[in-house]
Amino acid sequence: MSGHLVGKTALVTGATSGIGFHTALGLAREGADVILGARDEVRARRAVMAIKRESEAPHVDYLMADLSSMAGVRQFAEAYLDRHSRLNILVNNVGAFFLTRRLSEDGFEMTFALNHLSYFLLTELLRDLLIASAPARIVNVSSEAHRGSRIHFDDPQLTRRYGGLTAYGQSKLANVLFTYELAHRLLDTGVTANALHPGFVRTGLGTKNVNPILAAFVWLGFLGGMSPENGAQTSLHLASSPKLEGITSKYFSTGKQVRSSRGSYNKAAAERLWDLSEELTGLR
Ligand SMILES: NC(=O)c1ccc[n+]([C@@H]2O[C@H](COP(=O)([O-])OP(=O)(O)OC[C@H]3O[C@@H](n4cnc5c(N)ncnc54)[C@H](OP(=O)(O)O)[C@@H]3O)[C@@H](O)[C@H]2O)c1
Repeated sequence: MSGHLVGKTALVTGATSGIGFHTALGLAREGADVILGARDEVRARRAVMAIKRESEAPHVDYLMADLSSMAGVRQFAEAYLDRHSRLNILVNNVGAFFLTRRLSEDGFEMTFALNHLSYFLLTELLRDLLIASAPARIVNVSSEAHRGSRIHFDDPQLTRRYGGLTAYGQSKLANVLFTYELAHRLLDTGVTANALHPGFVRTGLGTKNVNPILAAFVWLGFLGGMSPENGAQTSLHLASSPKLEGITSKYFSTGKQVRSSRGSYNKAAAERLWDLSEELTGLR
């Protein structure tokens, strides 16, 4: 097996389809041992088999959990720590869009729980191992949808006025704020943290939690998007490019480093979000 990631271990959440699957495949092709995060056993086995078939990677495995549940995230992190002694690349990729307001097992608004709190809690639970495995990289999959959004600190669960796009935008801004604060807290540890927008990618993202008629429209709209394989390139660049050695606290959009929204650089908001996330995930 050749490739510049031989000897490295990577964990990709939401790796059974779309961008996450192709990120895991790309890392395996570069020689990394890859662990896929999954919520469905059949899809997990199918993804592992496909990656083994399409790469020469000897070590491809999966871990199961519903990452919208904080107990699920804890169980996922514990299983990882039980089975693996190294983590060089963590790609927080799991995500979904919810047209109508739903509550997670913990009673949190689903988008915030899955798209942000899972990134936060999983990273915190694996932080010591990442530092011990340094050099290591954390890659947070955000979106251009973070622009024009804000964190509703007075009502983060959006109990008063819910909109699917409002919730999604809030969660994706949280990804960027979290990344910058995380990078700051990890300075001088050998662990970097960067965020990205993958591009407009033809995946199941907009079709899974909406009614069938809207799903059909979204699906048609997504036909204009890039392939999931191309959509994984920015995640792969951040996770593995030798050119990004030591680069931290940056935002990339479709392959290029760009500035994220003005509000995403608000340090006070990032610290406030960190405190809130610690409280909600029970880390405090
Ligand atoms: N597609 C785009 O144009 C686009 C643009 C900007 C940002 N993004 C971001 O890219 C990331 C990946 O999205 P995608 O477009 O590749 O969508 P996707 O194909 O729907 O992939 C989402 C992944 O997350 C998994 N997942 C969903 N809910 C879960 C849960 N509760 N517990 C555990 N796993 C769960 C899915 O598992 P199943 O296979 O079992 O459903 C799937 O593997 C997301 O963070 C999204 O916000 C996408």
